Amino acid sequence: MTRLTLRRPDDWHLHLRDGAMLRAVLPETAAHFARAIIMPNLVPPVVRHDDAIAYKSRIDAAMPEGASFQPLMTLYLTEDSDPNDVAAAAASGLVHAVKLYPAGATTNSASGVRNFDKVRPVLDKMAEIGLPLCVHGEVVDDDIDIFDREAVFIDRILDPIRRATPGLRVVMEHITTSDAVAYAEAQDDTLAATITTHHLVINRNHILAGGIRPHYYCLPVAKRESHRLALRAAATSGQARFFLGTDSAPHTDANKLLPCGCAGCFTAPNTMSILAHVFEEDGALDKLEAFTSLNGPAFYRLPVNDSTIELIRHDTPVSYPEAIPTEDGPVTVFDPGFPLHWAVAPQEGSD
Ligand code: NCD
Ligand code: ZN
Repeated sequence: MTRLTLRRPDDWHLHLRDGAMLRAVLPETAAHFARAIIMPNLVPPVVRHDDAIAYKSRIDAAMPEGASFQPLMTLYLTEDSDPNDVAAAAASGLVHAVKLYPAGATTNSASGVRNFDKVRPVLDKMAEIGLPLCVHGEVVDDDIDIFDREAVFIDRILDPIRRATPGLRVVMEHITTSDAVAYAEAQDDTLAATITTHHLVINRNHILAGGIRPHYYCLPVAKRESHRLALRAAATSGQARFFLGTDSAPHTDANKLLPCGCAGCFTAPNTMSILAHVFEEDGALDKLEAFTSLNGPAFYRLPVNDSTIELIRHDTPVSYPEAIPTEDGPVTVFDPGFPLHWAVAPQEGSD
């Protein structure tokens, strides 16, 4: 097969940042995706309905001309979040999810949750109105090995929260382990899981063997190969509970290449090319559309996109930028480590 037409994809977990970075990275996502769930971990975070209104207007102001990209806003859950403010933000149609960061788990998570009892009223309200909770599923305890933090989170935090809040709709974000795949597969349809592009491609050897590679460092950190294979099987299975959330998380190279560098892989520019490669390699190109364009809208109770994109398989490798320039310096694009042959066909009317 050399051509593949898909419903236009959506990205159910994206970091667009703000200011110069927002202006630089937004066109990369808007070029291929119709909608994205926009992460609220700015400094300061997007906590209240008013914060989301203001952030949405900054995104709209940075939108490239002619783009028809729709940001789906989220709120950052804090111990002071107000259930009525969350409900109003959802009722207005602006906000599509609330994001739970355990305090200290990842970039800009300091305002996240320490005491889960304190967010109970918000979770109860969300269960009542059907608003999804997007969960960064890692415990932060010093005595838990970083490679075990997702599996421990499921047992100690996620499962108890779901039992205590019947009906709460949860997205396990950027899952990285076979434990998370198995947990997701065993639940009812109140639970879904997103999988990133990079976790389908790299394991922890890519980060650490033969030299340290900061551009492969993200959170949750990539695990051993058996986990990557479990993620590949889940993503290519077509099961409705698994869908794409790239977690494209741009940081300038200056902020990645430090003694204590930032976590995040920037995959927005080449995600669709990489996914086509991965699904083709696994003999599952017929499942790609479910993963990128159908399963997510079904969980988020949104219509699938009317428009389509075309992926073309080229005989010779396709090129993509090594880095995207920003006013604050370059942002290196994720290198999958193999040549890419699939490319999104230019849209009519674009150059
Ligand atoms: C994200 C970021 O940089 O904001 N980093 C990452 O490694 N994925 C935060 C997150 O989603 O954990
Ligand atoms: Zn993220």
